[in-house]
Amino acid sequence: MVMDEISLCVMTRELCHQLYSGWDNDPLIYADMKLFAAYKYDKNAVNKYFDAKQNPSLILFAIMKGESPIGELQLKQIDMTYKECTLSIHLKNDAVKGKGYGTRAEQLAVQYAFDMLGIVAVNADTIEKNTRSQHVLEKVGFRFIREENGFKYYRYER
Ligand SMILES: CC(C)(COP(=O)(O)OP(=O)(O)OC[C@H]1O[C@@H](n2cnc3c(N)ncnc32)[C@H](O)[C@@H]1OP(=O)(O)O)[C@@H](O)C(=O)NCCC(=O)NCCS
Repeated sequence: MVMDEISLCVMTRELCHQLYSGWDNDPLIYADMKLFAAYKYDKNAVNKYFDAKQNPSLILFAIMKGESPIGELQLKQIDMTYKECTLSIHLKNDAVKGKGYGTRAEQLAVQYAFDMLGIVAVNADTIEKNTRSQHVLEKVGFRFIREENGFKYYRYER
């Protein structure tokens, strides 16, 4: 296996624990910084989180670098009537950001949604201040749709 290769793997409970030990919350996803708190690993909380994600309307992926989980990516609000879903992503901590991994993971997720799920449009949104995420979405091919109530909305149509 090429160790630097990024891949997506459906999240397992074990990978979820590996990911969340060593996790840092990123301030760029908090519109209200009063809600920001440093992340503390809690085994029970991770189990609950993993259980809550076992839901047919979403797929929780581990973003893998070689054999290590370096982030999570969700295809959520999967709607097979309109063939749409929404992408969200969060890398584990600053050590793995800014190296092209998020861009690659988003490319793989869009490809998975189109090819494996038969989705025709993937949506995404970011808070206004998260210009890094906006830049990455646009780099991947998402189109800016609108700005509303502090959020910027993007869409990638097949
Ligand atoms: C957003 C995220 C997924 C991006 O993944 P990443 O691996 O860090 O990003 P990449 O290295 O692939 O690309 C970063 C790009 O943003 C650019 N960038 C970095 N900081 C930036 C900023 N403040 N404003 C605009 N662009 C910025 C980089 O120059 C690079 O672009 P380039 O390749 O054209 O030079 C990741 O940083 C992350 O998980 N952040 C925390 C959670 C989050 O914000 N999730 C999105 C919620 S909507």
